[in-house]
Amino acid sequence: MAQPDQSPEPPPADHVIVLFGATGDLARRKLLPGLFHLARAGLMPARYRIVGTAPASEALTDTEFRAHARQAVTAFGRARPEGPAWEAFEAALTFGAADTGAAEPLMTAVREAEAALGGTPRRLFHLAVPPVAFTSVVDLLGATGLSRDARVIVEKPFGTDLESARALNAAIHAVFDESRVFRIDHFLGKEAVDNILALRFANGLFEPLWNREHISHVQIDVPERIDIQGRAHFFEGTGTFRDMVVTHLFQLLGFVAMEPPVALEAQSLRDEQVKVFRALRPVDPAHVVRGQYTGYRAEPGVDPNSDTETFVALRVEIDNWRWAGVPFHLRTGKALAEGRHVVTLGLREPVLRMFPLDARAAVDGRSNELVIDFADPGSVTARFLVKEPGPSMRLAEADLVFGYDTSFAAANSLEGYEHLLLEAMRGNQSLFTRSDGIERLWEVAAPLLDTPPPVRPYAPGSWGPDAIADLVEPYRWHLPDRPTGADAPSS
Ligand code: BG6
Repeated sequence: MAQPDQSPEPPPADHVIVLFGATGDLARRKLLPGLFHLARAGLMPARYRIVGTAPASEALTDTEFRAHARQAVTAFGRARPEGPAWEAFEAALTFGAADTGAAEPLMTAVREAEAALGGTPRRLFHLAVPPVAFTSVVDLLGATGLSRDARVIVEKPFGTDLESARALNAAIHAVFDESRVFRIDHFLGKEAVDNILALRFANGLFEPLWNREHISHVQIDVPERIDIQGRAHFFEGTGTFRDMVVTHLFQLLGFVAMEPPVALEAQSLRDEQVKVFRALRPVDPAHVVRGQYTGYRAEPGVDPNSDTETFVALRVEIDNWRWAGVPFHLRTGKALAEGRHVVTLGLREPVLRMFPLDARAAVDGRSNELVIDFADPGSVTARFLVKEPGPSMRLAEADLVFGYDTSFAAANSLEGYEHLLLEAMRGNQSLFTRSDGIERLWEVAAPLLDTPPPVRPYAPGSWGPDAIADLVEPYRWHLPDRPTGADAPSS
């Protein structure tokens, strides 16, 4: 059977991609395996080179870098590093060290890579470096002239508060104008996030309901089962609110809540997203529950009196005509009962209750929802009431489910990072965050950062501190999918 064409766009122009932090964790887990997957899928440019770089103290030879990439793909890739596809990919890898004031090895490697490709390939820098190294790398790119006409992918965190975000943006803009900056939030690369746009704007079915008239509340829920996995150093200075909410959850909220863009292109999409952020009310600390899992303070590298949150639940509101009065409930944390990525839109009850209460006995009160599960591969579920077969009028819950895995060939799908690396090579900024949006989110976050409520303990494997139930009254948390314990309906 003929496969639908997954890539109607032409492949990206020829590229030299320079990976800063090439020996680091992100390159090993995501970037090198992701680039190899793109190569196997035929989505890389016709001609490309990948130049790894790191400080001279961590320098590798080309051969060592290739072995490093092979090991990374073996450990984290979706296909084994073998056969002609691997050989071609491996041949495109070279290495050149760079330090401030001593960037010659990198400059030579970039020149050689460009000469090998011929013509005028595009230059794309991926800054997979820790925040402390960030400004010096950007300065180095400016000082050496490597930044000329180049694009740059920037990893989160984009600052830790408004002031540091502004300073970071100023440092970037001193070398790269905004049209060449690609701030990556890998959640926006997930298929189901793009699918929110398709669902809303390609159909007449959903968008008419997508407002305060029909939706009573929205939940964006990203519980994680994993704990901090030894990342104490990073986590202690960051916490879940900065790590997950100011980044991923707020970005998702931007897509769920945006007005229809004028066109499906970067400027319109990002304008609409930023409008949502501007309409977001500053976070009220009274509407926030911070939690910390029991045992966190005993993790190696964690302060025994740490006040860092490993969990956060909050209620935020959007002051615009579409969403006034509709609470958005956000929850995420480590060491929780399940690892999920779910957006739920709760629909209002019909104006007239014509079905007797006992007809609804079998129903747990979550009967009218639209559930978007954006874990890869992702699904969309419409949940509604139907009549149970039988002699009397009893209602039961039913689900209409669309699953990506059962509907499309999984082989065509791209993971978040793969999708975003490809879009950056295409020069499409639609799924990348813009400086004004980032700064507005830190402004919205400021009241909570200034006066955070105390952390409350929660048991690993639970759904967070009990206090989160009150936060969303009169609604309930939609996860777990079926109520248990404190989440059970009270009537
Ligand atoms: C990262 C956070 O950005 O996202 C991690 O730093 C988190 O703490 C991760 O675990 C979650 O991503 P995903 O795609 O696994 O849900």
